[in-house]
Amino acid sequence: MAKQSISTPVIRRLPRYYRFLRELEEEEMERVSSQELALRMGFSASQIRQDFNCFGAFGQQGYGYNVRELREIIGSILGVDESTGVILIGAGNLGKAIATHLDFQKRGCRLIGVFDNNPALHGTKTAGLTIQSMQELPDFCKLHHPQVAVLCIPKGAAQELADHLVALGICGFWNFSHFDLSITNPQVIVENVHLGDSLMTLAYWVHHEE
Ligand code: NAI
Repeated sequence: MAKQSISTPVIRRLPRYYRFLRELEEEEMERVSSQELALRMGFSASQIRQDFNCFGAFGQQGYGYNVRELREIIGSILGVDESTGVILIGAGNLGKAIATHLDFQKRGCRLIGVFDNNPALHGTKTAGLTIQSMQELPDFCKLHHPQVAVLCIPKGAAQELADHLVALGICGFWNFSHFDLSITNPQVIVENVHLGDSLMTLAYWVHHEE
């Protein structure tokens, strides 16, 4: 089934399914039922069956799902084997933490370049990569064709930089800048990340949970 026909809510759940299935594989489980997955993940079994049906993964009565096959199907929908080239802009506290602590490879991505406009950082290293100046960015993009940019810069700089990056061929933004980018190009995908929103949601549930 074509990727486009999977709805956004299902796509948003896929990384979680992928992560759980990888854990089951590590536990050497060969098959799993929708009920077992439901129990582990906190979704309902019918929700899980419905989600998997969307991309043609039908469990067998009395057998359930083959863990490895299902993980591979979901991995291929997510593109984890495609090795997407990623650059990170803004090698401050957050940028360095992301570059250092996130396993890009596990998620089908390769962090290939880190850039910052602070000359004091140029030539220093993070996550094994030399931090480069913004002037080096155009040539780097021409040579390496990164597809995704992680933005860890102040919000005032985000839109102008994003427009520049789109012109250099970037087609996906993982945007931490607290500025909700507006990109008119329909080919460009923006994923705005606000850790604070997640914390506020948690606080809401802490106060409203009976
Ligand atoms: P920081 O000040 O430690 O790092 C920012 C880095 O960006 C600096 O190295 C600076 O030289 C560089 N920079 C600034 N303007 C630039 C430009 N135009 N081009 C290239 N590099 C540029 O700040 P920190 O703590 O790393 O935070 C970065 C941003 O992420 C801030 O806007 C912060 O509010 C935001 N943030 C977002 C979170 C989220 O959940 N979305 C969580 C934490 C921080």
